[in-house]
Amino acid sequence: MTSSYMNEAQLPQRVLLGAGPSTVHPRVLQAMTMPVVGHLDPSFFRVMDDVCEMLREVFHTKNSMTLPISSTGTGAMETACANIIEPGDEVLICRNGFFGARLADIADRCGATVHMMDTPWGKAVDPQMLRDELKKHPGLKVVGVVHAETSTGVLSSLEELMDVIHEYGALSIVDAVTSLGGHEVRMDDWGIDICYSATQKCLGAPPGLAPISLSPAAMDVVNNRASKVQSFYFNLKDLEAYWSQTRAYHHTSPINMTYALREALRMMMEEGLDNRVHRHARVAAGLRAGVEALGMTLLAEEGHRVNPLTAISIPEGIDDARVRRSLLNDYDIEIGGGLGEFAGKAWRIGLMGESCREKNVFAVLSALESILSKEGYEVAFGASLSAAQRTIATFDE
Ligand SMILES: Cc1ncc(COP(=O)(O)O)c(C=O)c1O
Repeated sequence: MTSSYMNEAQLPQRVLLGAGPSTVHPRVLQAMTMPVVGHLDPSFFRVMDDVCEMLREVFHTKNSMTLPISSTGTGAMETACANIIEPGDEVLICRNGFFGARLADIADRCGATVHMMDTPWGKAVDPQMLRDELKKHPGLKVVGVVHAETSTGVLSSLEELMDVIHEYGALSIVDAVTSLGGHEVRMDDWGIDICYSATQKCLGAPPGLAPISLSPAAMDVVNNRASKVQSFYFNLKDLEAYWSQTRAYHHTSPINMTYALREALRMMMEEGLDNRVHRHARVAAGLRAGVEALGMTLLAEEGHRVNPLTAISIPEGIDDARVRRSLLNDYDIEIGGGLGEFAGKAWRIGLMGESCREKNVFAVLSALESILSKEGYEVAFGASLSAAQRTIATFDE
């Protein structure tokens, strides 16, 4: 018997409509095949500088401390918390889904005294509720907010929340893993102190890098810590030295991932950030109209829906796993299942970055019509497709 590793790995070409990774454009994949150079090669420094310059554009910031962390999004969460929080610091986390809970867990592991402000899953974080909560905790150092909760498809209004946080003089940590590149994120205008994301969603590169940006006020806190940052790998002062000043070795950069990010960001610049956000809004509106025409319910409250991620309540009596298996095996389409409270109860359809195309809306809706009707769900064939088409075609009227 021969082992399967004797053959080249065979991977299918999926339509990636889950919660990330999203489709990677051939230009980005091609960029990854450029020669590997050393992480201290001057030609690589130019690539690094280009990446930082474009990331500043994407975050809408002038923050000099803007760079990609060598990790997925969770590493950026760890970076934000490990550098800002010292043992005993009071932190408030706005938890309205799975990733708010993860942020709280990480803050706790950094030794913070964590206060939770819970909002029911499916609802946005309420600025007035935050104001009331902040009044109760005068010594608070940081407030953590997830902009786009990927577990529920809820978008919270960062601009309003940042205003409240500023009234009380706390720093803000914003998780923009699912929103950056798909929704507007204006760090400087909205006064966000620390913001992070990940490459595999609306930025359009493979998983493996996690952009982060810190305001000068946040960097003051990092530079004046009483205690050493517990993490060597995510210690921003050393990372800054490599990325912007002395180019001193810290760890070996993922060279080819950085090429990929550079190309993905270049594609964003070519499209224009506003056009890209608008594309996500238009295509997502089509999907939502189609889903509702199928008689299914959206989980996020109206007016607070994430465009790159639509969470849907699974109709009564429908087998979650069987539908997703058929989508994958019969149609090569990946969608996400529910997380946490919504496990087994929700589907999450991602339209992120390069995956956010009209053709994908029609592909997933038509596949769902066929599969659901076989599962005994009443389907008016074509209804979801025409609702999506009408919405997309008239979106700008
Ligand atoms: C809102 C949010 N935050 C953090 C993460 C963690 O990112 P990663 O899985 O890339 O580590 C995710 C991943 O889906 C996310 O959606």
